[in-house]
Amino acid sequence: MKTLIVYSSKSGNTRKLAEAVYDFLPGENFLRTVEEKPDSSGYDFIVVGFWLQGGKADPESLEYLATIAPGNLFLFATHGASASSQHAQKAIQEAKELVSSSKVLGTFNCQGEVKKEFLAKVQQKDPQPPWVKDAPGAVGHPDGSDIANLQSELERAVTMLRAEK
Ligand SMILES: Cc1cc2nc3c(=O)[nH]c(=O)nc-3n(C[C@H](O)[C@H](O)[C@H](O)COP(=O)(O)O)c2cc1C
Repeated sequence: MKTLIVYSSKSGNTRKLAEAVYDFLPGENFLRTVEEKPDSSGYDFIVVGFWLQGGKADPESLEYLATIAPGNLFLFATHGASASSQHAQKAIQEAKELVSSSKVLGTFNCQGEVKKEFLAKVQQKDPQPPWVKDAPGAVGHPDGSDIANLQSELERAVTMLRAEK
């Protein structure tokens, strides 16, 4: 299996998960940043990880997702919002819509610690963005149990991929 893992990360949370994907998946894995705009054709599996900015995937990832060659995909996101929040679910849903000609075999949402200085700034806003109330719960994430949960979702996706072949 040949897998392309592409991620965007400003403060390291999404990179941590992308590296865990790289270490975990069997076969030949290629780890690239979204800034490198890697050609996504010729892979059995493509994993894209992004962080949320303004309720959406970060702008570079939005741009990249729209260029992906149709294939078998897995999407994951890190964010200050809780993983089950409408905010985080809507963002992953919107990312899925950008890759509608691909098959999305799985998704994973994960809280990611928000930089203290940035959080202090957004906490001053009135009204506060909807995710800010969840952000204290993101401290220390992603952690080992987030990585284990991501691995389970990946395993499920890879099983589906193999069943198709
Ligand atoms: C400029 C900026 C905007 C953000 N906007 C959101 C947002 O809309 N929703 C959210 O849940 N988290 C938001 N966050 C929190 C980040 O998505 C979160 O900390 C993420 O894990 C950062 O990933 P990274 O470490 O890979 O850069 C924002 C953070 C920054 C710095």
